[in-house]
Amino acid sequence: MLTTRPISNAGVILMLVFCNIAVAAEDSDQSPFAVLSVDAPSPSSQVMGWIDSRNTRSLNGSWKFLVDPMQVGTPGSLFGGCATSRMPEDEYQLLEYSYADAADVRVPGDFNTQFDELLYYRDTVWYQRYFDVEQVEKGRYHLWFGGANYKTTIYLNGRAIAHQSGGYVPFSVDITEHLLSEDNDLVIQVNNRLDKDTVPTERTDWWPYGGLTRDVMLVHTPDAYIVNASVQLEDRSTISGEVITAGMHRGEEIVISLPQINVQAKAKIDESGTARFHFPATVDLWSPSNPKLYNVQVASAADQIHDRIGFRTIEVQGTRILLNGNRIRFKGISTHEEPIGRDGVAYSRADIEALFTEAKKLGVNFVRAAHYPYSRHAAQVADEMGLLLWEEVPIYWNINWQNPETLRIARDQIARLVQRDWNRASVVVWSVANETTYSEPRMTFLNRLIQDVRELDDSRLVSAALLGDTRRELQHVVTYLAANGLDSDIPSDKEKLIFQHVLNAAGEYAPKPNSQFDLVITDPLGDLVDLVSYNEYFGWYYSRFIADQTGVSERTIRQLMLELMPSVTLSSAFDKPMFISEFGAGAKAGMRGEGVWTEDYQAKVYGAQFKMISNSPQVQGMTPWILKDFRAMLRSLGGVQDFRNRKGLIDENGRRKQAFYVLRDFYESDWYEQ
Ligand code: GCU
Repeated sequence: MLTTRPISNAGVILMLVFCNIAVAAEDSDQSPFAVLSVDAPSPSSQVMGWIDSRNTRSLNGSWKFLVDPMQVGTPGSLFGGCATSRMPEDEYQLLEYSYADAADVRVPGDFNTQFDELLYYRDTVWYQRYFDVEQVEKGRYHLWFGGANYKTTIYLNGRAIAHQSGGYVPFSVDITEHLLSEDNDLVIQVNNRLDKDTVPTERTDWWPYGGLTRDVMLVHTPDAYIVNASVQLEDRSTISGEVITAGMHRGEEIVISLPQINVQAKAKIDESGTARFHFPATVDLWSPSNPKLYNVQVASAADQIHDRIGFRTIEVQGTRILLNGNRIRFKGISTHEEPIGRDGVAYSRADIEALFTEAKKLGVNFVRAAHYPYSRHAAQVADEMGLLLWEEVPIYWNINWQNPETLRIARDQIARLVQRDWNRASVVVWSVANETTYSEPRMTFLNRLIQDVRELDDSRLVSAALLGDTRRELQHVVTYLAANGLDSDIPSDKEKLIFQHVLNAAGEYAPKPNSQFDLVITDPLGDLVDLVSYNEYFGWYYSRFIADQTGVSERTIRQLMLELMPSVTLSSAFDKPMFISEFGAGAKAGMRGEGVWTEDYQAKVYGAQFKMISNSPQVQGMTPWILKDFRAMLRSLGGVQDFRNRKGLIDENGRRKQAFYVLRDFYESDWYEQ
């Protein structure tokens, strides 16, 4: 429990002086009624890596917490003022803003699920705590955040010292010159509001959990220290990479060692503070069946970091994927970063272990961690459990491709994600987008991101979950349904008449009954990625659209669609592996019967999908949507969804649905070994 200590008068005066100077410098032109934010520098996109091996002190735990939709807490605003938990000196002193009697909130973790009244809240909140350093030693002190969603401003002892836009990824700030030996007053403003210019926009099919969602640490480093290092397998017998430093000089020596195999290499720092290395090493390759990790140390004269790293290769060869030179198919499942058994962010290692353990019960070797970077625990746990991982940034649906600030945030997100996880053997795919429609600005934006990824790390596959040209495809599907429907006893006579009109209108393009429907992905983004990934919802979404277009009942369309799917093939116009990054259907656990929302229908869709995917030799894997039902504001159907997306194979409490076992059986089938 945090004790809020009354601070000395001098401290208050000092703070107010600081605060007024600070605010005056940054907001002199704003009326005190309208100080909604204070400018502060954004940290560089460089990530302080290997955090768990550093000299850190956790700032997790109970913080003071205030909800503030009017931003009155912003220093300089008439009611707000710098953070303080001072108590009124007497009954005449008017205080309208103080942390003294504020609520307590747990860090890490979203705030939405810690207060019932905040579940739907998307605006400003404030976190406040004190920390002492007792003995401020030589060297540098940094505040390190595993991530915060979405806009974060850090105030320390009354000064705004940093601002970060973008959730999910780590950032840190050097606080050495702002640090006191005791009663450091740390206040953090977080705002989880999204809009048309944010990354993602306000329209997402997942919950905008906000706040200090990940670990917060105080890090102490020498004056000259190692910032980060990438250590990769360059080829079967060579390890290479680079060490990024701060405050060190050209010619200083860095030692990289793998004690278990008695390998040690030295490298000298260049004028940019970077040391590049490569050295021979014979290692036991990491794979899902053999998740072998090695202790790796990187040391300079004054600093030393270490991590457990697996070594493997991943590449594409024509339409195949090779792991350590051997062909592999990704038997996967998609997830959100939401724990089993409770709402909110799966912020802890235990949450992720439980989620991935349930995924492994399906027989998967691969997880698509949609749609944003998870905590660093996800790839660490995947390394240990032998799970291959797809990580992605939330370039989701209709991003503002032409806003430079939107691009800056997107580039910052992917740069931080790569620098955090570039040593994780489990991570084999970086994904730059999900379901973005074609336009030239979208191509320019995503091409920039793809180049950034490849410059930082060219050892992994780059992908993006594509939509395809759904409307054009559906026009085709209607003709196939009509051709097959004429011979089927599912449609009524009246519906067969409609199908006949459809075929007459199609003229020479009318397909023959029982002919095959070949769906080909041609999105130009396929030229820029290594893995052509495609989200398709045959058996779930399209039937309603087709019923509306044709006047045939949705029941008939759905039943014909399930019959048609086994004669659909999926391919792309690119000589690359294809991947089904999403398919699925909704079901409320326990609901039985024929129609939509029943477990039986969901299982039928999965069965029809397997036949379709098995007909498609270019497809080298899939991550059905999704392991677990998850919170989503788009999904309001009372009694069924209740603001949860119900495409999970387990419900929010872990109750398995029929389709869980259908997928598990498929993954045990021999299709995956062909
Ligand atoms: C989309 C999207 C997901 C969404 C899913 C659905 O493909 O990528 O974020 O949840 O479909 O409709 O359930």
